[in-house]
Amino acid sequence: MTAVARTLPWDWYDGTLPDNVELDDTAYVETTFSFLLYRSERQPGVSYGKGSSSYLGTMFDVGPSGRVRIGDYALVHGARIICDDEVVIGDHALISWNVVLMDTYRFSSDPGVRREELRSVPAALPRVLTGGAEARRIVIGDNVWIGFDAVVLPGVTIGEGAVVGAKSVVTADVPAYSVVAGNPARVVRTIPKEDDDVVED
Ligand SMILES: CC(C)(COP(=O)(O)OP(=O)(O)OC[C@H]1O[C@@H](n2cnc3c(N)ncnc32)[C@H](O)[C@@H]1OP(=O)(O)O)[C@@H](O)C(=O)NCCC(=O)NCCS
Repeated sequence: MTAVARTLPWDWYDGTLPDNVELDDTAYVETTFSFLLYRSERQPGVSYGKGSSSYLGTMFDVGPSGRVRIGDYALVHGARIICDDEVVIGDHALISWNVVLMDTYRFSSDPGVRREELRSVPAALPRVLTGGAEARRIVIGDNVWIGFDAVVLPGVTIGEGAVVGAKSVVTADVPAYSVVAGNPARVVRTIPKEDDDVVED
């Protein structure tokens, strides 16, 4: 039996949700255009938790071995997610516009390797540059807020409740309940942890 193509009634783009995208009944995808670059062969390749959402500008540039998990009530407001291994977005995380979460640099730092990769493009079908660099999982903890234009580099874990300032470049792990900012991002202050931070659902 073939799966029924899933479209979104409100979608301005004439696309469908890939079969291996797992969507909770209460989750929201603004547009299937977000999956234009999506090539994941994992099961699921993207999963949306309950009450979670992705809005216009969000792009899942996910390779065949990549997988993205969006936690319960997490909100992704126009981020580019470049994933060849795994990107985990925690529950109640808030990801602002133009944020880049990349678990891989995709390309080699060796100029000769890059030159050969570029020279293979004209013969490639589809005509894309695939690369093959190492990928290292990214974890965005529960209740994290990432400000606009921030970049999170491969292998980074951002601890629960942390805040990442706008335009920061996060090169290393971020402690829970801290505010980091700048390039490279550094802790600028810590956030008091309230008792009511414990959420029951
Ligand atoms: C990170 C942020 C929340 C911090 O706010 P805050 O806790 O009030 O921190 P402050 O403004 O007191 O700044 C603390 C220090 O960090 C620096 N800083 C704050 N944000 C910074 C940033 N984005 N980049 C570089 N430095 C930053 C401040 O200059 C200050 O440095 P100083 O102590 O040397 O003077 C805020 O600066 C920010 O970037 N907000 C982005 C919000 C956003 O993206 N909203 C989009 C809608 S989702």
